[in-house]
Order: sequence, then C-alpha cells, then structure tokens
Amino acid sequence: MNSRPLLTSSASRRLLRPVTDLIDQRIERRIRSAAAAKEAEDAVEKKQLRDAVELMKHHQLTLELLLGPRARGLSRIVSHGPLNRLYSEVEALSGDRDAAVRNVATAFRLLVALESLGVGRIAGGTMNICGKLGTIPLLDPPNDEILEIGTLYGMFSAGLVRMMERDGRSPSVTIVDPFAGVQLQPGSPERPDPSGAPVDEHAVRTNLALAGPAGVGARIQRGFSENADTRAAVSDRSYGVIVVDGDHSAEGVLADLQWAEQVAAPGAVIVLDDYGDPKWPGIKDALDKHLTGETRFTYLGKAALSAYLRAS
Ligand SMILES: C[S@@+](CC[C@H](N)C(=O)[O-])C[C@H]1O[C@@H](n2cnc3c(N)ncnc32)[C@H](O)[C@@H]1O
Repeated sequence: MNSRPLLTSSASRRLLRPVTDLIDQRIERRIRSAAAAKEAEDAVEKKQLRDAVELMKHHQLTLELLLGPRARGLSRIVSHGPLNRLYSEVEALSGDRDAAVRNVATAFRLLVALESLGVGRIAGGTMNICGKLGTIPLLDPPNDEILEIGTLYGMFSAGLVRMMERDGRSPSVTIVDPFAGVQLQPGSPERPDPSGAPVDEHAVRTNLALAGPAGVGARIQRGFSENADTRAAVSDRSYGVIVVDGDHSAEGVLADLQWAEQVAAPGAVIVLDDYGDPKWPGIKDALDKHLTGETRFTYLGKAALSAYLRAS
C-alpha cells in the first residue's frame, strides 16, 4: 500500500501546479508593489529632507549675514554655556536673577540693532558687551554722568545711554579718545578696523545720535586720557559711571584708574574692560596693583571680561 500523503504525490503536484503558480505570481506581485511603494515613499522622504536641509542652509546664511563675524571681526551668535554663565555673573553682581536675564537679553538685541544701523562696531565679545550694558544700570549708579575713556566708534556709549534710559535714568555722556583714524593700542599694530569704517569723531557723532537727544548732547573730548589738558577739560564734574577702555597697557590702565579716583562720585560704578583677557594681561596686573594701594575703589566682581568696582 502506498503510504505517501496525497498532496505531495507527483500526480497531485502536477495537478495543483496551475494553482500554486497563480499563488506564487500573486505573492510576487504583492512583494513587488510593496517594494515600489516603499521606494516611492523613501524618495519623497529624501526630497523632503533635502528641501529641509536647503532651507536650513538659507536660514543659516541669513543669520550669518546678520550676526556673523563679517565686518565686525567677531560673531554675535550666542551659545548656552557662555550665556548662562553671564546670567549668573550679572545676577551675582546685581543680586537680581530676573533683572539680570532681562537686561542681558535687552542688551543683546540693542547690540545687534546698533551694529546693524551704526557706523563701525562695538569692540569686544558679545558676552562682555551684553554684560556691561546689562550690569551698569543694575548697579544703580549714584548719578547719571557717564565718562567713557576710549570709545572707538562711540557705539557702546550709545548703547549705555539706551540701557540707562530704559531704567528711567537721564544719562549724560562724556567721551575721551584720541580719534586717530584707527584704534590706537600700545604694542598692537595699527591696522584698519574689520568694519572698514574710519575711527573718527564723525562716526562717533552718528552713532551717538542713534541714542536720541542724550546721545546728540554727548560731550566729546579729543585727546589722550593721561594728557593734563584732556583731563582738565572734563574733570569739571563727578561721574556716576566711569568706563575704563582706552590704553590697555598696565601703565595706561594704572594712570586711568588714578584719574578715575579723582573724578568718581561717591558710590560710582567703575568698569574696567578686558579684565582677565589673556590678550591684555596688563589690565589685571594694573587693577591688582591699584587695589593694594590707597584707593576709594572696592572690587565688586567680574562679568565676562569686565571688572566692576564701587567708589566709596
Ligand atoms: C577697545 S577700544 C574702545 C572700545 C569702546 N569702548 C567700545 O566698547 O566699543 C579702545 C579705544 O581707546 C583709544 N585709546 C587708546 N589709547 C588711549 C588713551 N591713552 N586715551 C584715550 N583713549 C585711548 C583707542 O584709540 C580706541 O579708540
């Protein structure tokens, strides 16, 4: 007796072949159409991805033009680490976290607006500029007289006027700078500014005008801050804010700090720019030395690359 199962016998296989062939064809067709659908889906996804990358590149290019380093030497694009550090430093100086965050953000927008509209640029890194613009009003200077030693394009003073006015103050600015056509810095080569704009009084006036009447009314004294005539011309008042950002050599900074001792109002805020910057070691040396002598100034702290002092 034949014990082979009925369906596997050669006779039944032959008999069933048309059916199995039909089933095979159907399966194959299904597989092929599923593969084609997947391929089409992949192609759509790839195109969407390509379009998205292209769009991102356009956004990046646009942002680069707006905030990138071209024509100002340094990028204004921010990253989390330095920004969070700056918030904490401004908070430590001012004792107010919310105000620190608000002022730094406000200062950032102001910086971008001024550099977009003004002649030249503000010198230095983004965090340092936002730190100075944000912190000074929060330290509640005792009066609204501001002295900036070393102004380059006057754009920082224009920004400070705005920040003080945003705090309900009525700033009055005095500026001392030699306006040599380029930025003067002992030991550094004199080269054209990355912005391409000449460092002159005309540019400073244009930039100050961006800050409205207080900017237009700013007093500009051309000369070197160590020069006796220059000092005499602007030592007619006590300043509530003094920004020391002129000659960056240790001797230059020492001389400016000594002068600041004489013209700072009681309670004045003194800002020493580029403090701790490895590019300008003389600045920290000068302050450290100054603070070991007889002084009205107390070191309050540091935000980015600026030291803050309070006069007694
Ligand atoms: C770093 S820039 C100032 C930047 C400006 N405060 C800002 O935030 O954009 C230094 C300026 O100080 C000027 N300067 C150099 N030596 C000086 C001096 N002895 N007295 C006053 N200004 C001086 C330079 O010509 C330059 O314009």
